[in-house]
Amino acid sequence: KQAMIIAVDGPTASGKGTIAKALAERFGLPHLDTGLLYRAVGRQVFLTGGDPDDAEDALAATDFPESLLQDPELRNEETGGLASRVSVHRPVRQALYERQRKFATQPGGAVLDGRDIGTVIAPKADVKLFVTATVEARAMRRWKEMALRGESHSLPEIEADLRQRDARDIARVEAPLKPAEGAVMLDTSELDRDAAIQAAIEAVERIR
Ligand code: C5P
Repeated sequence: KQAMIIAVDGPTASGKGTIAKALAERFGLPHLDTGLLYRAVGRQVFLTGGDPDDAEDALAATDFPESLLQDPELRNEETGGLASRVSVHRPVRQALYERQRKFATQPGGAVLDGRDIGTVIAPKADVKLFVTATVEARAMRRWKEMALRGESHSLPEIEADLRQRDARDIARVEAPLKPAEGAVMLDTSELDRDAAIQAAIEAVERIR
């Protein structure tokens, strides 16, 4: 067990969530999926009939009930799209900042995954990973996941959605998606789940 902070950033379906969870287990650290917080805000905006593109509506939704974090609807594509829209607003990001920051700096260390962990939330993290994969590889993964859940979307449809979300996450002014200084790049396009996890563990062991 190691008291270290590991930041894992990257786009949707890059494998960052799987990698973060596995690193947490391997190194005995607590894990926070920060995308879930933005998804809860997106879902809350929807449930309360607000406008995700309106900063005030989105800010009000950061007051979501804790129980919302258990809602399986948070995982679907619609909520992912809403999360990406509410997350462009600075007040929304600020409202979620303290909670993430506290998690990152707890005494035993932590693993956090998201878009801005290494750049904004925990710039002093011991290890920063930036996980990428081609849009084609990510779309294929998403398609398989959705097929398992019985959701049918075409591959081109999923690819278009990923491109749109990448563009929004990269182009936004507040905490845009980009590799942190000193981040280790990990391209998972050609790696299966186990190989990606193995590569991440090796990267952590090399640096810490
Ligand atoms: O990672 P996930 O797909 O769950 O994230 C959903 C959306 O939340 C992302 O598209 C991104 O716009 C936003 N997000 C963010 N900052 C984070 C985590 C997620 O802006 N740290």
